[in-house]
Amino acid sequence: MEQVKTILVVDDSPSTLAVIDEILNPHYRIKAVKDGTKALALAQDTDPPDLILLDILMPEPDGYQVCTMLKENPATRDIPVIFVTAKDEIEDEAHGLSLGAVDYIVKPFAPLIVLARVRTHLELRSAKLALKRENEELERRVKIRTQELTTTQDVTITSMATLAEARDKETGNHIWRTQNFVRLITENLPHIAGYGTSLTPADKEQIQKSAPLHDIGKVGIPDSILLKPGPLTPEEFNIMKTHTTIGYEAIARSEQMLGTTNFLRYAREIIHTHHEKWDGSGYPLGLSGEAIPLSGRIMAIADVYDALISKRVYKEPFPHTVAVQTILQGSGSHFDPVLVQVFEKLSDRFRVIASTSMDLDIEQQALRC
Ligand SMILES: [Fe+2]
Repeated sequence: MEQVKTILVVDDSPSTLAVIDEILNPHYRIKAVKDGTKALALAQDTDPPDLILLDILMPEPDGYQVCTMLKENPATRDIPVIFVTAKDEIEDEAHGLSLGAVDYIVKPFAPLIVLARVRTHLELRSAKLALKRENEELERRVKIRTQELTTTQDVTITSMATLAEARDKETGNHIWRTQNFVRLITENLPHIAGYGTSLTPADKEQIQKSAPLHDIGKVGIPDSILLKPGPLTPEEFNIMKTHTTIGYEAIARSEQMLGTTNFLRYAREIIHTHHEKWDGSGYPLGLSGEAIPLSGRIMAIADVYDALISKRVYKEPFPHTVAVQTILQGSGSHFDPVLVQVFEKLSDRFRVIASTSMDLDIEQQALRC
């Protein structure tokens, strides 16, 4: 059963209070006060009224002032106020409504009119409150669902990247270090067209999130090639190159079946193009310059720097300074010159990331200078 609504009646005239009480008492719980100060206190009570009938001509604070204070206070601003007054000029009514009152009743009033207007505004308020509660519930559910989706995405990325890494043990923390390098570059892109101004914060996050997937295609490369402790033959290298297209096709096929997202687009770009070179001599497509997606150009620097400072089955780690020099020398041939400039400025921070996440057995060697 619906709870009886409470109406606060504020009027300095005992006879008006008595009349209104007579009209509304059979239907509502009535609280009556003779001045604005008491009204303000009751409005902020732990059991606030559902609606306020407010006289204007009262000793200070008058009805206008009380209404203003009610509307300024977040705790009371949603309680509907109806002015009930002898002030019958249009300007008075306009002023009262401009202060936030929902209605204006001029004395002397017909009891049925007062009752009808009170009922209407109470119903309106109930509907508003119900809508507000519904919206809050909807927002809460959307938030939970979004969090679930984000967690699912993160778990999927981590699982796929970990599976790929498990095949290729010597890369150790490679995928996680390269993700940090990619984050560093994307957060420090120059504010020029094609670079910083082309990516929203959401794009940058998606690029960073998809970076660990760059080598997932390696799950399709035979162990005899992936783990070969020495240089690959040209035929073997051609097979090794297919890790870019194997991974690309896996993502592209999923997109065709399930639809695409910004994250999948960046994952596909990075997987497919992280071995392309600025001068067109890379693989698998031989793209050059800005035809290579920015995400792939960023990944290329992160990937090569990490490969250089890491131990591989076929090589010992290079010192940080040698790795930096190698990247700088590749500007305009292997790497995007603008991104190499960004890398050069950040190279000390690359060294810090490397030093905190190196595979233990090679840490000392890689960071010896
Ligand atoms: Fe790769």
